[in-house]
Order: sequence, then C-alpha cells, then structure tokens
Amino acid sequence: MARLTSLGRESVTSPAAGMRLGIFGTGYAGLVTSVCLAQLGHTVTAMDKDPGIVARLSQGMATIHEPGLSELLGANLEAGRLRFTTRADDAIAGSDIIFVCVGTPPRSDGRADLCQVEEVARTIAQRLDGYKLIVEKSTVPARTARSISWTIRRLAGPEHEFDVASNPEFLREGSAVRDFLHPDRIVIGADSGRARSLLLDLYKPSFDCPIVVTSVTTAEFIKQTANAFLAAKISFINVMSDLCEALGVDVGTVAQSIGMDPRIGAHFLNAGLGFGGSCLPKDLSALIKVAEENGVDIGMLKEVQRINRARVDRLLAKIERALWIVRHKVVAVLGVAFKANTDDIRGAPSLMVVPWLYAAGANLRIYDPAAMPKLQALYPPEDRLVYAESAIDAARDANALVILTDWDEFASIDLERVRSLMRTPIIIDGRNLFKPAQLQAAGFEYYSLGHGDVAPSADQRRVPA
Ligand code: UGA
Repeated sequence: MARLTSLGRESVTSPAAGMRLGIFGTGYAGLVTSVCLAQLGHTVTAMDKDPGIVARLSQGMATIHEPGLSELLGANLEAGRLRFTTRADDAIAGSDIIFVCVGTPPRSDGRADLCQVEEVARTIAQRLDGYKLIVEKSTVPARTARSISWTIRRLAGPEHEFDVASNPEFLREGSAVRDFLHPDRIVIGADSGRARSLLLDLYKPSFDCPIVVTSVTTAEFIKQTANAFLAAKISFINVMSDLCEALGVDVGTVAQSIGMDPRIGAHFLNAGLGFGGSCLPKDLSALIKVAEENGVDIGMLKEVQRINRARVDRLLAKIERALWIVRHKVVAVLGVAFKANTDDIRGAPSLMVVPWLYAAGANLRIYDPAAMPKLQALYPPEDRLVYAESAIDAARDANALVILTDWDEFASIDLERVRSLMRTPIIIDGRNLFKPAQLQAAGFEYYSLGHGDVAPSADQRRVPA
C-alpha cells in the first residue's frame, strides 16, 4: 500500500487491501474519520440517524466546514468506497471493525453524557453477525469501554465473540483532515491479541508514525490527559499574559522564546480569549469529575478551568474601558467561530460577547468567513444586529472593532482602509493578531490580551463621533 504524502487523490491506497468498516456518527470526528479511512482504501459505511444529514452527505455535500474534506468526500463517494446510511444494520453487517463516533456532550453536572454511546452498544449487541471489533473514537472517560463491553455481553449473550478497543483521535477542527492523514502518533488500546492485530492491520500499512499499543483504559486516559494538558498550557500562558500586561512585557515574545525550548514546545502558547470549542472545555470538566469520583485532588485543573472562564470577562472589561458607554455605539465583531478555519461556534467566545454587546445597547456589525450562518440561526439579523459581507464591510462606521477569532484574513486586513472607514479607530483584539507598535503606527487605539494597551499619537487621533 502506498504511503500517504499529501491530502490529494494520489494518496489513495489500493481498495483491494482495504477492510470493511462501519462508523456510527457523522459529526466532526465521525465524518472526518469516515472520509479519511475511505481515502486509505477501506470500504466505509457511515451511519447517522438524521436522514437530512445522510441525504446531504450522500450527494457529496459536506455538513461541516473543514479544509480538504469536500474534495475527499466527493472522490471517495465516486470511487464507491464510502456510503452513508440511516440504517444501523448497514453499518454493522459484514463490517470487520465498527467505530463509535457519536457525541458525548457535557451534562449539567460536568460529566460526559454517554447516552448515545450506550445506545450504539445496545444496537450493535442486537445485530452481532459474527466477531466484531468495536472501537471507541469519541472522547470518553477512562473505563467507558468496560461499560460498553458489559452492555453488549448482557444483551448479546455469551455465544457472540467481540472486543471493545479504544483508538482516540487527536484531530483539531480546522485541520482535521491533515491531522488524520499525517498523525504525530496513533494510539491503539486493545486488551486482546485479535483486536490489536486488526487495528495494526488497519493503520500500519498507511502510516510510518509511532504507534502506541496499550491497554484500553490507558488509551482512553491518554486522550483525556492530552486535552487536559493542552488546556493547562493555554491557561498558563493566559495568566502569564495578564502579568505581561501589568509589567509592560509582550506576551508574544515571551511565548516564542520559551517555546524554543523543546521541553516546553512552541505550540499552544497563544494567549487571548482562552480555549473554547466542543472538546477542551468539555473534556476538562469530565476529567475533573472522574478525579473527584476517585478521591483525587484535581485542584490544578479546576484552576485551569477558572482561568479560562474569566478570559471573556477580561475582554468585556477592555471593551468598556475603550468605549466607556457601549449604548448606541457601532461595534464591528470579527470572528464568531471558536477558532479559525472552522464554521463551528460551539463554546465560542462570540456566544457570550455578542449577547453582552447587544444587551448593552450596541449596534452590531458581525462578520466571519465561515460561521455566520450558525450564529444567524441563533440571532437572526435585525436593526441592531447586521451581518456584514466582509471584514472591511463590518468596519464601516464602527466605533470599535472587536476580534474574537484568529482567522488569517483578519491578521492581514488592510488597516489603512479599516481606519478610513471607522468612526473611531479602536481595535479590541481577543486573539493578539497584531503588535501594539504596528497598530499605533497605523493610527489605532489598540487593546489586546497580553500587550499593554496603546493609543495613537496625537497627530493621528481622530475626534470620536
Ligand atoms: C482539540 C485538540 O487540540 C485535539 O487534539 C483533539 O482531538 C480535539 O480537541 C478533540 O478532543 O476532539 P479542537 O478543540 O478542535 O482540538 O481545537 P484546538 O486547536 O485544540 O483549539 C481549542 C481551543 O483552544 C480554541 O478555542 C483555540 O482558539 C484555543 N487555543 C488554542 C488558544 O487559545 N491558544 C492556543 O495556543 C491554542
């Protein structure tokens, strides 16, 4: 089988070498996993209960914005390696491996809601047609596989052969296809030789990255630990950024310099609004619950969570400092997605900042390159809430421009043009996309999270309207 070198069609491996795979769930993880496993040459049947989603995907229309996904979806449908169904039977019958990629949303008490995982386990148990390997992909608390196993064993009876394994994904939204096809490592948690061999056969021919083979519970815990560490790294740099502001030090320079030490690493040191999305906040809460249930002092991670929750308040305070009275001010909001290169707004700062600005009486002009339809579904346009056609359009007549997402196109925006269009040249930057000196030279008042705030020099200052 050919090794993968790019995201393109040329990386497709021989279908003859492929396995037959069933996937439950076509959300972010499920859809990317389905498309990419088909791209590796396997025959994939992906099941979702929602007929609308299945119809769209079957026509080659991606249900999420993910770079590279549409192209691979179309190519693999066309090649006959990928199909979508609402019928569980289709995903189970004849499959060598069944992946569980359903949602595990947070419950109100912070634990992961595993109802959908249990439902899949029950569904599989009722349809076992020979040995099956059932693999958890969804992020679940350690020891969930044990509960899946018990559920299937009780319902299916002792005569059926199956294994439950864990193969956590480390995909980041916005680069999930690339992450899948070019992994740093693959983690296989399997407690039987048969399960281990099947998963090694699935991945080994296509990837030359390290493959960690371990117990099921260890694999589940590796995923939880990875996300908790990433969250901790972000909260750490955010606390440092507050201190940098107080000391007049640039957090970007500090992060870059400490990141050159391989023991620290350069990634995940961008200070700003903190971590959002559907994974890090949820997985951190679930891990804290697991620790509490096991009597382990997890105070450090509680602090990581508390620091993160305070980030948006800090930005709101900056908005008030910059505008004083928010009522009747025109505020351009750039970015509603929780991070760049995705249309996902789950856990996004925009979900707190937009309602706050609206309640404070601002006139909002909102722009995001991909995620606006999702925000519009929650907050339809009206007199005080307008969706703009571009970042430049959003800036028109604005008293302030608030940046909530780190899209590249915001970092490279034509500042001269923005300044000429705004009523008052004020930027409040929740993602530290600019250097204060750069914006000062361009004639802006600039408020950020991790640099000292700056005002323009007197000759460039315009009189506020
Ligand atoms: C995260 C992990 O990075 C993936 O490895 C994991 O597979 C995934 O969760 C999951 O559990 O499914 P994701 O939430 O898609 O991926 O996105 P990240 O790139 O991790 O960003 C999470 C949040 O942290 C975003 O709000 C982002 O803006 C923020 N962030 C990230 C920072 O504030 N600073 C940084 O330096 C990096």
